[in-house]
Amino acid sequence: MPTEVQGVIARSKDAPVELTTIVVPDPGPGEVVVDVQACGVCHTDLHYRQGGINDEFPFLLGHEAAGVVSEVGEGVTEVEVGDYVVLNWRAVCGQCRACRRGRPWYCFDTHNARQKMTLTDGTELTPALGIGAFAEKTLVAQGQCTKVDRGAAPEVAGLLGCGVMAGIGAAINTGGVTRGDTVAVFGCGGVGDAAVLGARLAGASTIIGVDIDDRKLRVAEGIGATHTVNSHQTDPVAAIQELTGGFGVDVAIEAVGRPETYRQAFYARDLAGTVVLVGVPTPDMEITLPLLDVFGRGGALKSSWYGDCLPSRDFPMLIGLHVQGRIDLSAFVTEKIGIGDVETAFDKMHAGDVLRSVVMI
Ligand code: APR
Ligand code: ZN
Ligand code: ZN
Repeated sequence: MPTEVQGVIARSKDAPVELTTIVVPDPGPGEVVVDVQACGVCHTDLHYRQGGINDEFPFLLGHEAAGVVSEVGEGVTEVEVGDYVVLNWRAVCGQCRACRRGRPWYCFDTHNARQKMTLTDGTELTPALGIGAFAEKTLVAQGQCTKVDRGAAPEVAGLLGCGVMAGIGAAINTGGVTRGDTVAVFGCGGVGDAAVLGARLAGASTIIGVDIDDRKLRVAEGIGATHTVNSHQTDPVAAIQELTGGFGVDVAIEAVGRPETYRQAFYARDLAGTVVLVGVPTPDMEITLPLLDVFGRGGALKSSWYGDCLPSRDFPMLIGLHVQGRIDLSAFVTEKIGIGDVETAFDKMHAGDVLRSVVMI
């Protein structure tokens, strides 16, 4: 029987979100219903509500989630009822050229649930990033579920579903940070701090956090930054060169998504170093660089798409390290909130007061 549950929707452009009754259908072939336990509040949810992603209103928001599988459809083999899972928004096909070439994060044919969740009047909902998890239950494709160790609390585990994975992956998967490397991270929000953690996990010797907000720099130090630079007060390129014996860093990670910070990352790098863009720019943003500098400085200019992650490999690995006490993912949970508090969480995110607010369901 289709189930009626409470969910948080964005009904129209820029209107405040609403807690309302939604209908979750029985899972069809390859589909899974998950009892959501926790879901982080991400910038992308706010972008949906502002109409910045597309105009397929109403949206069912939320996508950084963990929960327990409550029903499975025909042909579901990857998870079973009772499994504790983290959801991901890139369930890859394994068959297309990108997948076969070992770059599944660029998969051409990612899978979401085929059926739609609806309002009680039958209006179809568009789930944010194909998930929609500010709800007591949600319907996803089996490949969107990764079974993980129950030892990680849901508010922690769910964060791997988006921002925290993007940051850690930018360092370890895209940047290829390795032991002894020097690393700079521009923008110490949730994504940048996760990149700091990834660099620490990979054994970086020096990790320099750069931000314009001292509060953010203090948090980055707690997560693993060995040095910090306030780029409103100090030229970050000069400061980074000074901190690295005049060379610049091996890997510079841009986690803001702005031309000026990308330029700083480009020049803060040692010769033959790597720049990773994980902050998401807007369509109007452009940057010009002297081609001679691109040529002369060598190295690699990369971007990181969802941390270039493979959820089935990376989620259990990172959750395992957390459960063993070797990394502390709970540092990203600034506050736990109720399902009715998403709009307030957007305000706090906007004011820069939180790394992540997590809705507990
Ligand atoms: N220089 C340095 N830091 C800056 C600058 C700047 N010019 N402008 C903003 N920042 C800092 C902010 O102070 C904040 O700490 O960048 C950080 C951005 O963090 P959040 O707003 O918390 O965003 P986050 O969730 O970390 O995402 C960062 O990655 O996934 C993308 O869309 C996301 O583009 C966004 C980026
Ligand atoms: Zn594919
Ligand atoms: Zn997100």
